[in-house]
Amino acid sequence: MKFFIDTANLDQIKEAQDLGVLDGVTTNPTLMAKEGITGEANVTAHYLAICDIVDDNVSAEVISTTYDEMIKEGEALAKLNPKIVVKIPMIKDGVKAIKYLTSKGIRTNCTLIFSAGQALLAAKAGASYVSPFLGRLDDIGNDGLNLIEDIRLIFDNYEYPTEILAASIRSPLHIINCAKLGADVITSPLSAIVGLLKHPLTDSGLAQFLADHDKAAKAAL
Ligand code: G3P
Repeated sequence: MKFFIDTANLDQIKEAQDLGVLDGVTTNPTLMAKEGITGEANVTAHYLAICDIVDDNVSAEVISTTYDEMIKEGEALAKLNPKIVVKIPMIKDGVKAIKYLTSKGIRTNCTLIFSAGQALLAAKAGASYVSPFLGRLDDIGNDGLNLIEDIRLIFDNYEYPTEILAASIRSPLHIINCAKLGADVITSPLSAIVGLLKHPLTDSGLAQFLADHDKAAKAAL
């Protein structure tokens, strides 16, 4: 399973990259705004800064919502750096834009997926990734993991190469459950990725090992 980090914060991206487990980054207009990145020149510079940190897979989302504008914006984003994956919303013109961009060899990530039907359409159009939003489904009392399971079944039935990029991840448990269900990728805040390495028995076990080592070393003096 690939690990992406869901942020536009350069320090957090560097920290995840330094951990040695990062395969990519997903951003969205909210995450860019959170970092105070506005205006075309600043946005472009920020995407390039992210591309300098990671090896591949930097999702950059279009702001436009019409077919013509989305393909123009998508082509411009893709030209910035070969690591860019163009993020397109799941709307009618978005499906058409995914079809077009795919035909031009541009990778796409279809975002705001909340149903299996939406994922199926995006896969038919040739999306490289679909992004089902688990946490936001959980927030309204649905089970986001059921959606991952349904999409996995459908994509496997027809051998669609589109990868399931589980998004809106809120916890380490979300990541583990996505891995159990066969999601190809998770995109997560740094806290949930780092949360995977924590266990109280690891901490107490290590403390015991080190204390025993010190005791034996002192006894040998
Ligand atoms: O990047 C898309 C998705 O991961 C958003 O997550 O936490 O805003 O629901 P969240």
